[in-house]
Amino acid sequence: MKSLEQALRHKVGLGTAPLGNMFRDVPEEEAQETIQSAWDQGIRYFDTAPFYGAGLAEQRLGNVLSKYDRDDYFIGTKVGRYVTNEKEEKEGLFADARGNKVITDYSEDATLKSIEQSLERLKTDHLDMVFVHDVSRDFHGDEWITKFDEARNGAFRVLSRLLEEGVINSWGLGVNTTEPIELVMELEEAQPDVCLSATQYTLLQHERALQRMMPTAAEKDVGIIVGSPYNSGVLLGGDHFNYAKAGSDILTHVNQLEDIADRHNVHLKAAALQFSTSHPASKAVIPGSTRPDRIVEDVEMINADIPDAFWRELVDKGFVSPQAPLPTKAY
Ligand SMILES: NC(=O)c1ccc[n+]([C@@H]2O[C@H](COP(=O)([O-])OP(=O)(O)OC[C@H]3O[C@@H](n4cnc5c(N)ncnc54)[C@H](OP(=O)(O)O)[C@@H]3O)[C@@H](O)[C@H]2O)c1
Repeated sequence: MKSLEQALRHKVGLGTAPLGNMFRDVPEEEAQETIQSAWDQGIRYFDTAPFYGAGLAEQRLGNVLSKYDRDDYFIGTKVGRYVTNEKEEKEGLFADARGNKVITDYSEDATLKSIEQSLERLKTDHLDMVFVHDVSRDFHGDEWITKFDEARNGAFRVLSRLLEEGVINSWGLGVNTTEPIELVMELEEAQPDVCLSATQYTLLQHERALQRMMPTAAEKDVGIIVGSPYNSGVLLGGDHFNYAKAGSDILTHVNQLEDIADRHNVHLKAAALQFSTSHPASKAVIPGSTRPDRIVEDVEMINADIPDAFWRELVDKGFVSPQAPLPTKAY
């Protein structure tokens, strides 16, 4: 695929973090069927990363996609972490991942090593889009600026060069906070043309992104890919909000959204996908799933009719910012 736009039907791609056994040990067959279902629904843009299951999500993706013509699909993966052969006991979100130790490193050498490994797991000779992964406070605490500088002198240079040489189609950051994307868009030397913003421009949470990141991205023509449109599942009844156990305040918020949605006969998945793709800076949304049926649902929901009165009520009751572009003519 020459460009993301060509790969997009309905502005939806498939996010594969859950296919790296993020929340559960997904049987191999179910994982393959989920990817196959995405393909059968016409999805041609796939987001992955070495971090998702220590290479497992990339392997699973490669196993299904490699039987198709490489020009027919678009892959975005990430650098900043590479996978080693050393084994370790896994815990937390990726407790069921492959046991291989993952090293975080934003240097030039590590970036090249990570790309080599991804190509092998994805069974391809090129990547389309590459994001520098999680160079952000939620992973590095106060050290995140130091890590950002490491990436600026390492990964950013490699990716800028690969873009210039036409080896990749685009690059940027893939992060769960807005600040790194705001910062990278101000740099003189590095010119990312797309960034993956996860959890930050969703029906549930969008105020901060609306203030700076989204308008700047629109102004500078940096495309935003919205990751984690259900804030890692809580919006659709899951236990996790932004990859941690959801607190009572969030669960109450979701219940209130559900009540309004029920009254208007709207599925929250439809509202979430259509909200995240309505901003002019938003190029695509990449919901994650481990179940084939969900992909059919995603495609149905992004095209579902939503009454204007639903959006009006969300704005009037303060659940959606009055500044947010909405998928309706009423605002
Ligand atoms: N820093 C980064 O670059 C970054 C960070 C986060 C995410 N991302 C990307 O964005 C993608 C999406 O994020 P995500 O997958 O973490 O979170 P998400 O898309 O917000 O939510 C995914 C969860 O929603 C659940 N779900 C979907 N439909 C459902 C339904 N009808 N009822 C109940 N649950 C439902 C899925 O469960 P099932 O598995 O049961 O379907 C899955 O656990 C990732 O996969 C990744 O590719 C990137």
